[in-house]
Amino acid sequence: MIHMIVAMNNTRTIGHQNTIPFHNPEDLAHFKAKTLHHICVMGRVTYESIPVKLNQRTIWCLTSSLDYKPKHDNVVVFHDQQKLLEAVLSCTEDIFICGGLQIYRLFFPYVKTLWLSRINDEFDGDVKLDRFEDHMTLVNTVQYNTFVCEEYQR
Ligand SMILES: NC(=O)c1ccc[n+]([C@@H]2O[C@H](COP(=O)([O-])OP(=O)(O)OC[C@H]3O[C@@H](n4cnc5c(N)ncnc54)[C@H](OP(=O)(O)O)[C@@H]3O)[C@@H](O)[C@H]2O)c1
Repeated sequence: MIHMIVAMNNTRTIGHQNTIPFHNPEDLAHFKAKTLHHICVMGRVTYESIPVKLNQRTIWCLTSSLDYKPKHDNVVVFHDQQKLLEAVLSCTEDIFICGGLQIYRLFFPYVKTLWLSRINDEFDGDVKLDRFEDHMTLVNTVQYNTFVCEEYQR
């Protein structure tokens, strides 16, 4: 099944200057718990923005650079959006679309479950999530100490 996972603040900001402008350790733990042992699909910008190796996960990273060398041994590099899409659609495991915006836009039409962390923060960043709410149904809400996780289904 194809999942999407994203953290968004009150201005719909998800990123700023190639990083996530809000720091929420509890949400990072939630991201880890959800994605552990699964395939994570991400753009090259997001992959490079993560300062640590995402252990016990396989990263499928999209880049146009043909000689791209990722920093970690758990990364499979794709250069062709269509080949990546075919791999995602033919995968029988749970797979997580992890951003950033370009990757969310490419894969959103195929996402079945969306895990949205709503971060109560007002920062106005340069990368904002498109409205998806008209295409998905909110089926569950979990209140954590520092954020709210909403689960949407198509
Ligand atoms: N809040 C959250 O949950 C969350 C999650 C993830 C990311 N983010 C944030 O989102 C921002 C990054 O998003 P972004 O949209 O700028 O970048 P991105 O989606 O992470 O990566 C974009 C890159 O993907 C590659 N790419 C995209 N389409 C391609 C195609 N058709 N063919 C080949 N390569 C392709 C290109 O890499 P090359 O340039 O190498 O060709 C492109 O520069 C950052 O601020 C990040 O922190 C936030």
